[in-house]
Amino acid sequence: MSGRRVRVPDLRQKKQAGEKIAMLTAYDATMARLFDRAGIDVILVGDSLATVVLGHQHTLTVTLDTMIHHTGAVARGTERALIVTDMPFLTYQVSVEEAVRNAGRLLQSGAMAVKLEGGRPVLDVVRRLVDVGIPVMGHLGLTPQSVHKLGGYAKRAAEPHEAAVLMEDAVALEQAGAFAIVLEAIPSEVARSVTSRVSVPTIGIGSGNECDGQVLVSYDMLGLFEGPVPSFVKQYANLADTVTAAVREYVDDVRSGAYPPTRSTISSPSTPLGASTKA
Ligand code: KIV
Repeated sequence: MSGRRVRVPDLRQKKQAGEKIAMLTAYDATMARLFDRAGIDVILVGDSLATVVLGHQHTLTVTLDTMIHHTGAVARGTERALIVTDMPFLTYQVSVEEAVRNAGRLLQSGAMAVKLEGGRPVLDVVRRLVDVGIPVMGHLGLTPQSVHKLGGYAKRAAEPHEAAVLMEDAVALEQAGAFAIVLEAIPSEVARSVTSRVSVPTIGIGSGNECDGQVLVSYDMLGLFEGPVPSFVKQYANLADTVTAAVREYVDDVRSGAYPPTRSTISSPSTPLGASTKA
């Protein structure tokens, strides 16, 4: 699977083969290209765009047009990863017809599948999208678009009755045609039970290590986002410090006159002007 684009059916094959699925969020072409090169299986153009990129308090504010804009950028930056885009709040809850039109626009902008939050309340939408050829990834547990109803971002399905409801939702999503299900912030035993019960892959976030794959918000795991980061996130880099130090050095160089160097110290101007805009 290394040379060609990862496709929706590949994820189920990976589950069957016991191969874990690696998924990360990305929001622009430059980052997406780096993740693609590193071998990521799935890139999620998450509605976390609202918080980590656009500076909002929650994900409810991001619009369909904004998600379309960023999906196009991610698609242009990748050759291999499967691209899944979050359907933003209010783009699939009002009617099945609106959901089809909105999901279709995301596919037209470069997504290969959409993700939407919730279980039984969204089954009609899932069925219809799948019927018309739009692959759907489900999302259960902590569903950030319901932050006001849930009263925050605490762990879900800790009580047995909640875990039972989540299990029923997962089975119903599979039956409705979802090709994978994100399980966010649920106990690892519940995630393990769901993972063994459904035949579609589960992708965990803060739900232990027994899901079929894992997803993280890239700005969290790269140490770029300085807002509240969930405790389960492993920080693989500290790009906030790296970027701040680089920019501080540049500012100092400009102010002291060390950059740009004097003409006599430039050896050969081999890189044409504007090259960085074409890479
Ligand atoms: O928007 C997002 O980043 C997500 C992940 C947390 C799964 O939905």
